[in-house]
Amino acid sequence: MSELILAVESSCDETSVAVVKNGSIILSNIIASQIKSHERFGGVVPEVASRHHVEQIGYCIQDALAEAKVKPEELSAVAVTKGPGLVGALLIGITAAKSFAWAHGLPLIGVNHMAGHICAARFVQTIHYPALALLVSGGHTELVYLPSEGTYEIIGETRDDAAGEAYDKVGRVLGLSYPSGKKIDEMAHKGNDTYHFPRAMLHENTYDFSFSGLKSSFINLVHNAQQRDEQLNENDLAASFQASVIDVLVEKTIRACQEYQVQQLIVAGGVAANQGLRERLQTATKIMLPSVELIFPPLKLCGDNAAMIGAAASIEKKQAHFSDLTLNADPSLSFPLYKKAEGL
Ligand code: KG4
Ligand code: ZN
Repeated sequence: MSELILAVESSCDETSVAVVKNGSIILSNIIASQIKSHERFGGVVPEVASRHHVEQIGYCIQDALAEAKVKPEELSAVAVTKGPGLVGALLIGITAAKSFAWAHGLPLIGVNHMAGHICAARFVQTIHYPALALLVSGGHTELVYLPSEGTYEIIGETRDDAAGEAYDKVGRVLGLSYPSGKKIDEMAHKGNDTYHFPRAMLHENTYDFSFSGLKSSFINLVHNAQQRDEQLNENDLAASFQASVIDVLVEKTIRACQEYQVQQLIVAGGVAANQGLRERLQTATKIMLPSVELIFPPLKLCGDNAAMIGAAASIEKKQAHFSDLTLNADPSLSFPLYKKAEGL
């Protein structure tokens, strides 16, 4: 019999509900984006996000079931993002999922949002272990080691800004609307790395990252030019910024794949949609890691969505990791640190 999971995601600014079959087939994946409401504030406003989730969640559940042509009694479980994310936003999804599970007598599964991003890879390929995930989103930049199914361990992470956050902050200085990662990626393709921004911690013996120095260099350069009434080439600025981010991400990721002897490299999170990063990783893995399979989730599954939560939940279900109705939001939920990384 098929396993059918109704999955709910509401950790940030997308209300999303999906029906996922056997952990790797999407029957529906409804995504109600709030980006338009947050754009004018230059970032996500938590109160506004929660309000939108309340308005949308019921419709999203109805639409996800209707599009999948699945009745509640045919479902195997209800999954929901329990963290990390905005506490108010998370609570809306959790409350809806709990109510639905209770009303229909279904098991409940709380899912780590970041495991969801990684498991979006399941829609294109079976994950073979050990694997490594480069998780790059608006809130996170992490290298995650997956020794076996359902185990996620951090070997390196950002010490300050996440990669996506840096994209959004420098985009703001260029007058781009939020979120600006995609726009900077497009501009970067029309420019050259002429400004040579710093590559933080590139050669240090750690898998940790830092992007705040790069962000400050970028902002200072733009402000100084504005004060002197100098013209800067915006495409070259974007290309220089992007080259700096990608150099560090690629170098550390390749090194980690070699050290941890992984079979697959999964690149996930919103910044995994970056064309420059995709191209550089494809070339680098082909040359340096010919035996490692590189997996990018499809572009539309790189951003926040509930299908990825369903894919991760299917693994939790296999391992009988269920939650009860006391399930609560955990805004700073994190994977454990890999012990070997502590000494680095
Ligand atoms: O994973 P995600 O949808 O939400 C979080 O959980 O954070 O990631 C959103 C982030 C934003 O910072 C956005 O600017 C960035 O992903 N992003 C990109 C691209 N597309 C989205 N960054 C660089 N290049 C892109 N093409
Ligand atoms: Zn996310």
